[in-house]
This record gives sequence, C-alpha cells and structure tokens, in this order.
Amino acid sequence: MRPTTSNEIRQAFLDFFSEVHHEVVPSAPLPQRDNPTLLFTNAGMNQFVDVFLGKEKRPYSRATTAQKGMRVQGKHNELENVGPSARHHTFFEMLGNFSFGDYFKSEAIDYAWTFLTGVMQLEPERLFATVYLDDDEAFELWTRYLPAERILRFGREDNYWVMGDVGPCGPCSEIHYYSGAMDQITAEGVNNEDYPEYLEIWNLVFMQFDGQPDGSVIPLPRPSVDTGLGMERLVRVIQGKDNNYDTDLFSPALDRTQALLGDSDEQRAENLVGYRVIADHGRAATFLIADGVLPGNTGAGYVLRMIIRRAARFGRKIGFHEPFLGEIAEVF
Ligand code: GLY
Repeated sequence: MRPTTSNEIRQAFLDFFSEVHHEVVPSAPLPQRDNPTLLFTNAGMNQFVDVFLGKEKRPYSRATTAQKGMRVQGKHNELENVGPSARHHTFFEMLGNFSFGDYFKSEAIDYAWTFLTGVMQLEPERLFATVYLDDDEAFELWTRYLPAERILRFGREDNYWVMGDVGPCGPCSEIHYYSGAMDQITAEGVNNEDYPEYLEIWNLVFMQFDGQPDGSVIPLPRPSVDTGLGMERLVRVIQGKDNNYDTDLFSPALDRTQALLGDSDEQRAENLVGYRVIADHGRAATFLIADGVLPGNTGAGYVLRMIIRRAARFGRKIGFHEPFLGEIAEVF
C-alpha cells in the first residue's frame, strides 16, 4: 500500500534506502557545533562534511537520514517567506541519501526515480528533471526515464549547490512535480514563481568540489552524492494538498489555533497568514528548545527569540491576548 501519513512516508524513505545498503543515521541536532559558518543545521549533509572531504572515515560509505533543519540565515534563509508562501518554512525536515565516494550520478538518479514512481507511486508524466547547464552526463542519464523536453538545464542559481561560503559543493539535478491539469502541463512552469502547481521536491547534489574561502574550488577526494528531499513538500504531494500547511504535519496546529481563538472557518481563512506563521514558528521554536536552545541575545538563542516574538506578534494580530505558544508546542 502507498504510504500516506507523514510518519509512514518518512519511514518508507528510510526503509527504501536501508534495503539498498544505506546506514540509517539519526538526525544531527539543530544547533551547529561542527561548521563555524552556520548557526543551524541547514541540510542533511552538514553532519557528513568531513566524510565528504575525506578527513573522517566511517564504517559505511552509504547513509540515509531524516534530518531536522532550519533555514533562517546565510545562504539559505526562508524567514520572510514564511506565512505568505505555501512551500517555505523556517524549521523543516529533509530526507536524504548520501554516497561517500561510493555511487555517483547514475545510481542517485535511479534510486530517486524508483522511490518516487515505485514506492510513492507518483505519476511519471508529472515529473520534470533539471540539470546544471553543461552537465550532459546527468541529462543523458535522465533520458532513461524522461523525454528530453522534460529535462531542463538551469544555471548556477538553481542547479549548483553550496552549503555556505565554504565546504563541499557541486552541480545538482532537481526533480519537480506538477500537480495541475494534464492538458496544461508546460516546461515553462518549472522554476517559475508564476506557476504555483510546479514544486521542486528533491535535489540530487553531485558533490565534487570543496569551496575555499577565496572562492576557488578543489576537487573532493572522490565524487560523492548528497540528496535532499523536502519532507513537507513530498507529504503535500502525496496528501493531494495545494499547500504544505494542509498536510498532517501542520493541520493539527492550525486546528488548535482555531479552537483556542474560537474562530469560525471564515475567520480562519481570513487570518491564514497569521495561522501559518504560528504553525511554522511554533514548530521551529518547539524543536529548537527540544534541542537545547534557549532564547537569548546572540547566535542561535537570538534567532529563537526572534521566531517567538514574530509568532507572538502575528498571534496578537489575529486575536490572541494571552500566552498561546505553549499550547502549540504541545501539538508538536
Ligand atoms: N544538500 C542538498 C539540499 O539541501 O538541497
């Protein structure tokens, strides 16, 4: 049976990669201790940076994780998108598979395709792939599954992944899902904000370089793979919703907010942005505190304080006069 709840989907991902000999590694905590340029884990690969660089050896060369992440600073910052956007979050979960000099582009693409169209049963006709401008190898590999008109080339902005200012990086190949009417499907919609039915769901990074502080890159000891599948987005696709908040990851928090306010469905719809900010920020604050962060004036503590204040501000706007975030934390 196709996995449908968020818990089933997460488990199906880890099981799939475990069956093809990936070590299931626990999520790293949110606050970053290993990467001085990051406050928070911002991708599944953070905990494996030294493994990619060849400085650390592990007893496995393939790994899979369901990683907690925050994108609120540096190269990846979603804070201002949260609320208005149906697809961006501060705290998020990223499902990933990693190869440390083991398999490379071909298997990464095979695994992603098999998981999405086999285990998750997505319709192949709704999928697009993007590749980095001159990555003819990735383009060719995709032609095993997709017609050439659904394989698109994009530049550095979209198809070259860097963790931060320095560290492992490389060209990437993204998988996009189209949820609209089939007679309207067009390649123009991919990576185009005017087309909300097109959603990037999975990024396959072909890790090949180590970015240096002066902007130059040196090759990694062995080409590797780092992928990031957006959990909230995949759950949205599987649950057939047009935004991430109507999935089972967030809707219990929205329902709780509505019950606490005593709002009608119309009031909830009118105050949608506030509801979403509370759900997103309430979830982020809950996971940050669970990982040992406390509100403060600097660093991670400052970000947590800012998130709590932003949630409280939106809460006041939609009618809260008493503390409410503790109730939202209970939901998560
Ligand atoms: N490291 C891959 C991604 O975050 O998209």
